[in-house]
Amino acid sequence: MRVLITGATGLIGKKITELCHENGMKVSYLSTSKNKLEDQDNYRGFYWNPSTGEIDTRCFERVGTIINLAGANVFQPWTKKAKANILNSRVDSLNLLHKTLSENSHEVGQLISASAVGIYESSFQKMHTEDDRKVDDSFLGKVTQRWEAAADQFNDLGLRVAKVRIGLVLSNKGGALAQMQKPFKYNLGAALGSGKQWQSWIHIEDLSRIFLHILKEGLTGVYNAVAPNPVTNKTLTEQLAKIMGKKTWLPNVPAPVLKISMGEMSQIILSSQLVSSKKINETGFTFHYINLERALRDLLKEKTGA
Ligand SMILES: NC(=O)c1ccc[n+]([C@@H]2O[C@H](COP(=O)([O-])OP(=O)(O)OC[C@H]3O[C@@H](n4cnc5c(N)ncnc54)[C@H](OP(=O)(O)O)[C@@H]3O)[C@@H](O)[C@H]2O)c1
Repeated sequence: MRVLITGATGLIGKKITELCHENGMKVSYLSTSKNKLEDQDNYRGFYWNPSTGEIDTRCFERVGTIINLAGANVFQPWTKKAKANILNSRVDSLNLLHKTLSENSHEVGQLISASAVGIYESSFQKMHTEDDRKVDDSFLGKVTQRWEAAADQFNDLGLRVAKVRIGLVLSNKGGALAQMQKPFKYNLGAALGSGKQWQSWIHIEDLSRIFLHILKEGLTGVYNAVAPNPVTNKTLTEQLAKIMGKKTWLPNVPAPVLKISMGEMSQIILSSQLVSSKKINETGFTFHYINLERALRDLLKEKTGA
């Protein structure tokens, strides 16, 4: 059986594809960009456009599991148009998959859909578990709630549905870590806001392994995908500086400055999510990267020689 991945061409999708291949699984994928379509037996691309409802239905051939990662990047100025795109790209993608599966015969038995820890209420104290019902009263809180509701529809089709609430993904191929490193290159790195906000990080290798673990074990329900030891923004900044051989000599960047320069999008870096990894641990998953320092040293080893 093949795995169908949406958003396979992105940061997380590329790593999950790599891991599928290492495990002998063939990947089909849906892409909104015709120039990203390849046609190899173990990596076969199909075109779709969730905003117009266009989809190449051959994508489901011999597929047993769908891994859904598609969505417009949230790191863009949150204009009215961008916000609509961030929400609609996620909900439309799932709705289109659902509609197509309900109208065609297929062998798909499982959906593993990305979500985000931004669904949890921002708090400096509370440790969030998957049982928490309160959704953060913010744009990202509402987006993730609608995104998860769109995934839940697949239960009606008899699929096993899992939703993976992803934390701050650390990768050496782009994403948040590359952005955090930039100011340090000019010795201008500093903690953000109070620096007390919790950052529930995860090494991209462990994140991809969680998706494969859920796939192999046929798990259903919600799972947090964060490492067992979240840190504050201050600690993250200091650890990164240490491993890059840099100093943190500047005061924190004040929250109002971030709000003025980034607008509402500053929520992404100022909100605080302390998130538990206990549930996925209890399913038999073991993390390779438990502590931040080890994760950062692994990711930055070529650049720092650490
Ligand atoms: N990285 C993180 O720290 C993090 C944290 C929490 C949650 N997540 C979520 O996990 C998912 C994957 O993250 P990522 O970091 O791999 O993101 P990414 O690098 O931005 O990749 C997302 C992929 O989604 C597809 N896409 C973009 N715009 C789209 C649209 N309008 N309609 C349909 N598909 C679209 C693109 O694939 P094509 O061009 O091939 O269509 C793109 O490669 C995202 O939904 C993200 O919100 C990520």
